[in-house]
Amino acid sequence: MNLSTTIAGVTFPTCFMNAAGACCVTQEELEALGESHAGAIVTKSMTPQPREGNPGPRYHSFPGGSINSMGLPNLGYPAYAKLIPELRRFGKPIVASIAGLNPQDFLEAAKAIELAKPDLVEVNLSCPNLPGEPQIAYDIEASRRILLELQECLTIPMGVKLPPYFDPVHHEAMAGMLEGVNVSFLSLINSVGNGLVIDPESETVVIKPKGGFGGIGGTIIKPVALANVRAFWKLFQGRMPIIGVGGVVTGTDAFEHLLCGASAVQVGTTLVEEGLTAFERLEKELSEVLTKKGYASVDDCRGRLKEL
Ligand code: DHB
Repeated sequence: MNLSTTIAGVTFPTCFMNAAGACCVTQEELEALGESHAGAIVTKSMTPQPREGNPGPRYHSFPGGSINSMGLPNLGYPAYAKLIPELRRFGKPIVASIAGLNPQDFLEAAKAIELAKPDLVEVNLSCPNLPGEPQIAYDIEASRRILLELQECLTIPMGVKLPPYFDPVHHEAMAGMLEGVNVSFLSLINSVGNGLVIDPESETVVIKPKGGFGGIGGTIIKPVALANVRAFWKLFQGRMPIIGVGGVVTGTDAFEHLLCGASAVQVGTTLVEEGLTAFERLEKELSEVLTKKGYASVDDCRGRLKEL
């Protein structure tokens, strides 16, 4: 089965890759992604300075998914800029995720990372876990300003990682703004921000930062992820490549993202819980689903969701 896919002119050997944040902070983790069946290496969202992140416990899984408030632990962009050329040896696309606490951070990271020549840059406008910092992508004008500045200093295609939106008016407002900037793909969605998971037995929250509030991922967010993939696919009439993220546990989950319009999928909670062998399993499962349904490739089924 042909599971390869092309996004913004970059061909991925398979349509599965890690979600930014999942198993991709350290050199060892990035190399392990290189050696795995992952179709790409996506870095942790990087900031100018190295960060320890929030105090633990800061990740917790439960039967339907996970909650996290990592707080952007990362090596800082100089370290990733140095690592990226070394990761080339794995022969798969490299996606650099950049983040920041202010617009200047994004620009600095973009300028340094441009020189390291990743294949794509994923601009993370949707980190929910920085105490006191709103998610940028819930502010259309702030997002526009950052993307306009970034497009001036990047020649590598840039995409945007968005948070979930829950109303068509918000999908339309974001899509309308994106029409006016040079964005080559969308990664949809980041975790559902500021959920709360509690343990009724001990009567406590399960993670420490922000009084227990954190980003929700995994199976329980799949309907929200699919809705966002579908909404943006339709708003751009299938002309904006989308990487679907959220609730990919099985090959069938990935198939659902493809039907909604995704060109590839990223795996977060499942990767953290199951480890890198998840990629091989997902490939096998998706191949079986596509074969059974008579599709010859990822391209063949993309966006083909039927409406009633
Ligand atoms: C973190 C979480 C996110 O969902 C994100 O987009 C960036 C960073 C974090 O807490 O590290």
